[in-house]
Amino acid sequence: MALKATNPTTTASWKKLQSHFDTIKSKHLKDLFTADANRAKDLTVEWDDFYVDFSKNRITKETLDLLYDLANELDLKDAISKYFEGDIINATEGRAVLHTALRAPKDAKVFVDGENVIPEVHEVKKKIENFTNSIVSGDHKGFSGKAITDVVNIGIGGSDLGPAMVVDSLQYYKNHLNTHFVSNVDGDHYNEVIKNLNPETTLFVIVSKTFTTQETLSNANSIRAWFLESQPQEAVSKHFVAVSTNIESVKNFGIDEDNIFPMKDWVGGRFSLWSAVGLSISLALGYNHFESLLEGAHKMDEHFRTSSFENNIPVTSALLTIWYNNFFKSESEAIIPYTQYLNQFATYLQQGIMESNGKSVDRAGKRVNYETGTIIWGEPGTNSQHAFFQLIHQGTKLIPTDFIGYIKSLHGNKEHHNKLMSNYFAQTEALMNGKTETEVLSEFNGQNLSEDDIKTLTPFKIFEGNKPTTSLLIQKLTPESLGKLIAMYEHKIFVQGVIWNIYSYDQFGVELGKQLAKSILKELSEDASSSNHDASTQSLLTFFKKNC
Ligand code: F6P
Repeated sequence: MALKATNPTTTASWKKLQSHFDTIKSKHLKDLFTADANRAKDLTVEWDDFYVDFSKNRITKETLDLLYDLANELDLKDAISKYFEGDIINATEGRAVLHTALRAPKDAKVFVDGENVIPEVHEVKKKIENFTNSIVSGDHKGFSGKAITDVVNIGIGGSDLGPAMVVDSLQYYKNHLNTHFVSNVDGDHYNEVIKNLNPETTLFVIVSKTFTTQETLSNANSIRAWFLESQPQEAVSKHFVAVSTNIESVKNFGIDEDNIFPMKDWVGGRFSLWSAVGLSISLALGYNHFESLLEGAHKMDEHFRTSSFENNIPVTSALLTIWYNNFFKSESEAIIPYTQYLNQFATYLQQGIMESNGKSVDRAGKRVNYETGTIIWGEPGTNSQHAFFQLIHQGTKLIPTDFIGYIKSLHGNKEHHNKLMSNYFAQTEALMNGKTETEVLSEFNGQNLSEDDIKTLTPFKIFEGNKPTTSLLIQKLTPESLGKLIAMYEHKIFVQGVIWNIYSYDQFGVELGKQLAKSILKELSEDASSSNHDASTQSLLTFFKKNC
């Protein structure tokens, strides 16, 4: 059964939240802490190796209770069951949404069209495991008898971002294989990647759920042509494998059936790293680490599925986004990991969050009359402190920010880690407390400034503070804890979609540009021209063609 379609703004809880917002909107976080000695403890959720402190958000216990009421009024519990049980919640594409089934244990049962999908999930995992082991051990030889040294993942969007982010984030756990990612249709991208590769020792993994994506097929074709410049046709089967739902098209491309790792249409591209799309992860880290990643995600699934809303990290985190987006009218959220390893994390989440919830038509097919998807951005701390933090501290926009930190560093340099984490703690404190006029004036003491200078400088040095942050402290960056973290954001996306009454699992918005690009490509490559363009596009095309 599909999800219900209720405009959230028509609920009693939304109206209560609106009047509650009017009473709380100007309260300062500092005062909320002064008023409630137990605030930090009460607004923190400890689960497994996660410690999540929500207390530096512009909320009280009452806010959270009202947000949980909203979730109850909109039947979130029922929606969660439908999500995990394989109901067709991606109604616009007529599909279930079951990335959770990919990390479920062998004895789980999840039915799609009356069939338990878990045995097949585990069959594909076994195939990934066997193939990984043969490549990593060197048993699988390239056509000329040499072991594989390099793996190139060819894919885009969900067929690239997830594997690329995980391999980069978990590089500490990597094996000897060099892993590369080709995604952009920009020919310079694949040429840069292959220029130092030896075709005799390279494995190409073509990843495309649909096997129709222009970028991926162009790159795969060009790379195969480059490969065949030095290798015989028979070598292709030793060096090219594919991941897709579209088995026929993969075979037509020339890949042996044995070299196809299948996936199902109930796995959305942006949630697919747990499927065979994660083959490059398994190859780069070893199958045992891929399995731990999945186990971590499954633990988060269970936490999300079974915890009360009050103790539920993804639910609380999602409702806070609703609070800021729809009541404070915040337009964006920042995600700042205090580890260089998670360098690509925000970019990865941009697809997950913005492709899912960037929607303006509700589940009843009507234009929404409230805000939906937030803009996501971020970079690791401390680098980002020296780039865009100024705007978060003293700009005019309210940007709720997730701070993700680890208790232990991987290489164990305690001195550096303490410096890193002192910044993590200091930033959330500074964002919350700001700096008052009195504090600014006392800092001027002993600085030998004139009265006039002090008067002029003071307003620039005041920080309002009251900037909301959520602090996630995780024991250590491991495959398992990364699995939990990614799954946490996946479930957050789901909850937001339920509350906003939108369909989070289609992405029709990216289609129009693709269609137009196809017809423009004809104009660029042939001497054809079209009179269908607006004046600006027409002039740009003419100028480009004249000068290229
Ligand atoms: O950008 C749209 C999109 O469909 C994404 O959702 C998907 O991850 C990406 O293109 C790649 O699609 P495919 O895996 O089918 O090549």
